[in-house]
Amino acid sequence: MNRNANARNAPPRAGAMLEALRGLGYTTAAALADIVDNSISAGATEVLINFSWNDTSSSVSVLDNGCGMDDAELESAMRLGDISPLEKRDRTDLGRFGMGLKTASFSQCRRLTVASVKNGATSCLRWDLDALAASPEAGWLLFEGPSPGSETLLAPISQIKLGTLVLWEILDRIVTKGYVANDFNDLIDRVESHFAMVFHRLIQDPNARLKILLNGKRIMPWDPFLTGHAAKTWDSPIARTTTESGIVEVECHVLPHRDKLSPAEFDAGGGPEGWTAQQGIYIYRNERLLVAGGWLGLGQGRAWNREEAYRLARIRLDIPNTADAEWKIDIRKSTAKPPVSMRLWLTRLAEDTRERARKVFAYRGSPTPVSGGGTVEQAWRIERSRTGARYKIDEKHPVVSAVLDGAGELLPMVKAMLRVVEETVPVQRIWLDTAENKETPQTGFVGEPSEKVVAVLKTIYADMIGRRGMSPANAKKMLAVTEPFQNYPGLVAGLQDEPA
Ligand SMILES: Nc1ncnc2c1ncn2[C@@H]1O[C@H](COP(=O)(O)OP(=O)(O)OP(=O)(O)O)[C@@H](O)[C@H]1O
Ligand SMILES: [Mg+2]
Repeated sequence: MNRNANARNAPPRAGAMLEALRGLGYTTAAALADIVDNSISAGATEVLINFSWNDTSSSVSVLDNGCGMDDAELESAMRLGDISPLEKRDRTDLGRFGMGLKTASFSQCRRLTVASVKNGATSCLRWDLDALAASPEAGWLLFEGPSPGSETLLAPISQIKLGTLVLWEILDRIVTKGYVANDFNDLIDRVESHFAMVFHRLIQDPNARLKILLNGKRIMPWDPFLTGHAAKTWDSPIARTTTESGIVEVECHVLPHRDKLSPAEFDAGGGPEGWTAQQGIYIYRNERLLVAGGWLGLGQGRAWNREEAYRLARIRLDIPNTADAEWKIDIRKSTAKPPVSMRLWLTRLAEDTRERARKVFAYRGSPTPVSGGGTVEQAWRIERSRTGARYKIDEKHPVVSAVLDGAGELLPMVKAMLRVVEETVPVQRIWLDTAENKETPQTGFVGEPSEKVVAVLKTIYADMIGRRGMSPANAKKMLAVTEPFQNYPGLVAGLQDEPA
């Protein structure tokens, strides 16, 4: 009986509550990542994940060599709401809500068994939604030991001295009607690519602290930033800002253009969702990825979308677990939102990165500035007016000016020709091709053998030295900043002082 006359005790009904918690919206991969988070927080160096196909009796298990739990700790781990999200957490803890083990598991299965070894003793407890549904009056019945008949699935725990095994059985949310072994294999692939991404920093180098094996195969990291790639376009200096809840760190990246990557690298670089979807901000918490791209509702005026043109922009953002509330981390560890106070700072950094990425995308890997900071002599100018943009050939470009200077009585004809070219730029065609192929058409001699570039270079170079009387050194200096030859500094430098 409740002693307070104005209040009632209204505990939830166990079965109904657990059924309701199944609908939090985890994907299988995200749910499993939540289980592995616990292993990592427990200091595990090896996590073995096993998907075992046996039709409706299929199961999934996660075995770790972390610190393990004694009987009381295991009971607390199985209990819902045993630790408040308000409690201070160890700096390296990946948990927050005291719920993940349960909510992630029930989102996929109806029977959750956890066995753990610590101090030479093994404990095993089990939630069974079917049993709770069968006797609704029984309350929060936590069973001891494995479900009869499932003992063999827990056998691996007897092989270790310290660690934990989490077993999912009755995978009603995975093995639905018509689901076959092949679907299960596809699921394993999805889990692999998700894990390669969310844990990439923890499994990065070959001697990494952590190894995750999926059905015996080691998961290799997927690095969204192509760290150390020779063709890497741009890394920003690391920016930091201090808030009440800790330090936030940002590093912006512009990835190499497709032309600078091998087909295999390009394919891998796209990540689980592909280049366009994987652009944007990557939020990490204790080096574990929470959010894989997107622009978090940032933008001036209208929120930025993930667009083709910005697909080379990826930004690393690190938050500490002390900032969980401020960043509105969710139980699934799949969303986080920048606090209002940080939006302007982030918008500026992201805007700069997006602009750089757009240029690399548009110019196929060669943003206009050249080394040394000068600007490049462009062949095309864009004239913007209230009625729209016009593309004009720049008469100052060395080749164009050479032709105009030497045209003599043909000058009106040459000018007429340039005008015709300007007025018939196949803009719609280019635009359609770009949209269809998700790639700007080839320009700037991309894909052409160097002899072809050299042939054109030589003609212009001879004109600069012969007709214009430039010194070879000055002619080369100029060519090095003339479109499109700024992309071929080696070929420019290789021109003979005495042109043929
Ligand atoms: N593999 C494991 N090894 C050791 N302890 C574990 C393991 N899994 C869970 N625990 C213990 O059980 C507790 C509850 O886990 P659970 O995932 O439900 O919540 P959490 O990790 O604290 O927070 P969150 O809901 O954010 O994941 C953990 O705090 C941890 O103490
Ligand atoms: Mg957890």
